[in-house]
Amino acid sequence: MERRRAIWPSDDAKAAPSASLDLDRPHPARIYNYLIGGKDHFAADREAAHTLQRLIPESRDAMRLNRAFLTRAVRRAAEAGVSRFLDIGTGIPAPGNTHEIAVQSRPDARVVYVDRDPLVVTHARALVAHPGMPATAVLQADLRDPEALLAAAPVANLLGDGEPVALVLGAVLHFVDDADEPHAAVRRLLEPLAPGSMLIVSHVCHISQWVDTADQARADQVTALYRETVDRLTPRRAERIEAFFAGLDLLPPGLVPCAAWDAEATVSELRATRGFLGGVGVKR
Ligand SMILES: C[S@@+](CC[C@H](N)C(=O)[O-])C[C@H]1O[C@@H](n2cnc3c(N)ncnc32)[C@H](O)[C@@H]1O
Repeated sequence: MERRRAIWPSDDAKAAPSASLDLDRPHPARIYNYLIGGKDHFAADREAAHTLQRLIPESRDAMRLNRAFLTRAVRRAAEAGVSRFLDIGTGIPAPGNTHEIAVQSRPDARVVYVDRDPLVVTHARALVAHPGMPATAVLQADLRDPEALLAAAPVANLLGDGEPVALVLGAVLHFVDDADEPHAAVRRLLEPLAPGSMLIVSHVCHISQWVDTADQARADQVTALYRETVDRLTPRRAERIEAFFAGLDLLPPGLVPCAAWDAEATVSELRATRGFLGGVGVKR
């Protein structure tokens, strides 16, 4: 059967692998949106989400707890005085978007959202077009090309006045293969940021003190499931995730199941996020 396909508007359709909207192919951003209670998903996404929930029954909780981690981390950055946010791998807007959290502590917050997916970018632009939203921009760009990302006007403007910036990489680095050198990309993105800048990361993890061999086998099955989607999944061992913070001061409690970052996690929340780690580092 021929796949249903609709062309989605894009800044540069050739640059993004999912520049057209393929309704029969599950899409990680829409699977995620479905699981965190959003409204932007199709039948194929819901089907993949249900398969994921069969493999990992607590996956819905894990994703919601990831979202809650990002909220706490962004709030912590804003309360520490950071008013510039560069959020890469934004995802389809859902409650708890970075600008909504940041502006609660910093009415002068400025946010640049970046995603490589034209579908996500279109949704995000519609959201931030509302009057009364703090200064936000939405850019279609790829984390794997940090030079182009830093050179883009909204990012150059955000960084231009030398204020500390929070670089938010929520649930995105595990969609970047090792061959695309995600550690080098993060290093490059941190380079121009002023002292006091922060790095906020959440990442799927398949080998750590918190998981056992049965969890690792399930992670392999989830990785296989994501091969059917537009973005492949690369879970990493905890040490490789911690390596994204090289040269930064990792804030307590360090890199932990994201429900336990700056929060009293229940046993079931800890269990749900044992394969989904979060951490925050500060640039000296
Ligand atoms: C699961 S969503 C994460 C949403 C949000 N950051 C959160 O954690 O709640 C992952 C997003 O990363 C985006 N993404 C994947 N690879 C990317 C890349 N190389 N550059 C920029 N965005 C990317 C996807 O399009 C998707 O919207």
